[in-house]
Amino acid sequence: MLSVFASSEESLAIPIWAVSRVGLDDWLAAQPAAVSTWARANEFKGQAGRVLNIPSPEGVVAAVAFGLGDGDEALIWRALPDSLATGAYRIASHLDAENANRAALGWALGSYRYRRYTKPAKDAPPRLVMPEGVDADDISRIAEGIFLARDLINTPSNDMGPQELTDAAQALAVKFGASLSALIGDELLVHNYPLMHAVGRASPRAPRLIDLRWGDVNAPKVTLVGKGVVFDSGGLDLKPSASMLLMKKDMGGAANVLGLAYMIMDAGLRVRLRVLIPTAENSVSGDSFRPGDILTSRRGLTVEIGNTDAEGRLLLADALTEADTEQPELLIDMATLTGAARTALGPEIPPFFTSDDGLAERLKNYSETQADPMWRMPLWKPYDKDLDSKIADVNNVTSGGMAGAITAALFLQRFVTSTKNWAHFDIYAWNAKSSAGQPVGGEAQAIRAIYALLRDHY
Ligand code: BES
Ligand code: ZN
Ligand code: ZN
Repeated sequence: MLSVFASSEESLAIPIWAVSRVGLDDWLAAQPAAVSTWARANEFKGQAGRVLNIPSPEGVVAAVAFGLGDGDEALIWRALPDSLATGAYRIASHLDAENANRAALGWALGSYRYRRYTKPAKDAPPRLVMPEGVDADDISRIAEGIFLARDLINTPSNDMGPQELTDAAQALAVKFGASLSALIGDELLVHNYPLMHAVGRASPRAPRLIDLRWGDVNAPKVTLVGKGVVFDSGGLDLKPSASMLLMKKDMGGAANVLGLAYMIMDAGLRVRLRVLIPTAENSVSGDSFRPGDILTSRRGLTVEIGNTDAEGRLLLADALTEADTEQPELLIDMATLTGAARTALGPEIPPFFTSDDGLAERLKNYSETQADPMWRMPLWKPYDKDLDSKIADVNNVTSGGMAGAITAALFLQRFVTSTKNWAHFDIYAWNAKSSAGQPVGGEAQAIRAIYALLRDHY
């Protein structure tokens, strides 16, 4: 279990009262006079995320009141650990099973810190006694999967190249008894991944295709594909400084599918899992692929390069072609693919694309129950012709630049021809601004919802 949880025998655990705005009067009435006076004096009204330490007569923290506001923020508990001193805490208020699970998950998520390059923290984080009715193992595996994704994204590109990303996947494979193979550099040409090779060939850190397999070969096939661009300079269509600054996170799709794979394998779901990660650095050198080049993809389609900064879809095209040959029961790709997705929905809501209405409906439902935002956008057929090229089968960008997230998804769709259940997630993988329990930095998106969907189906 995660170290942010305490054992239930922890007898000195400090009680936490969870108080909503409507529950305030009842709570005040049930408290000793000294406590209700203290709460009123400090204007504690159950405001969302408000933390009030309640002292004993000796002046130590005897209890904590935590505001739930209107009770409509499922993961509000992630705001709490940051505001509490080291020690063990327990939830004193009664929570039903759903809310107890959300409280424990929120607590775990809010305890995350990225510490690779700083001195160890002086104080250990506060610990929570697992509330009753919580599936402690499941909460822990979800949090571990998310922490893995965040750690990988937060690690800067100088320490997270294609090799290091492969090492991270290898560590997962060892932990869960999965098999892993990788095609490296020119092996990509030998095994016919020409777009992947072209995107990655300018960097001294050779591109790779990571291929992890796990589970009973006879179980339903679930395949995850994640964009693993360890740094996106834009290539010869170089990004301006402001746009390049965050591009260590361009392997956020890979990090997210590895986080999801962690959850699936740790839970022992009855699936045959395959994780394909095309990883490369989109770099600049005399050997860079160029605007105007025409490359033949693994599928055989010729691709005119309209912009070397639209590199993610090239990597995914070859990887999806391979994934598609097995016709998995479910094929999911995740990628920090377009700035246009952010323009449309902002950093917190990743769009997803699928032509399967049933799958879309299930994803929507799990997104709601798991409080893991996502929003369906259309694979709008009429826009597909905007990708036409005069001298090749397809261009990697459109000329107008409108509906960029949709046309990127339509580009990918040209390479998924036989799998019915395919969904593409265009994620941001980053918290742009700091909020309680969500520090600026790498973020997992949509994988809690996808995991819950898989867990209930397999
Ligand atoms: N990695 C970027 C997309 C991106 C940018 C994601 C910022 C999140 C934040 C991708 O490789 C890219 O550069 N896409 C271009 C595509 C364009 C050239 C058609 C973009 O979105 O500008
Ligand atoms: Zn790019
Ligand atoms: Zn990119």
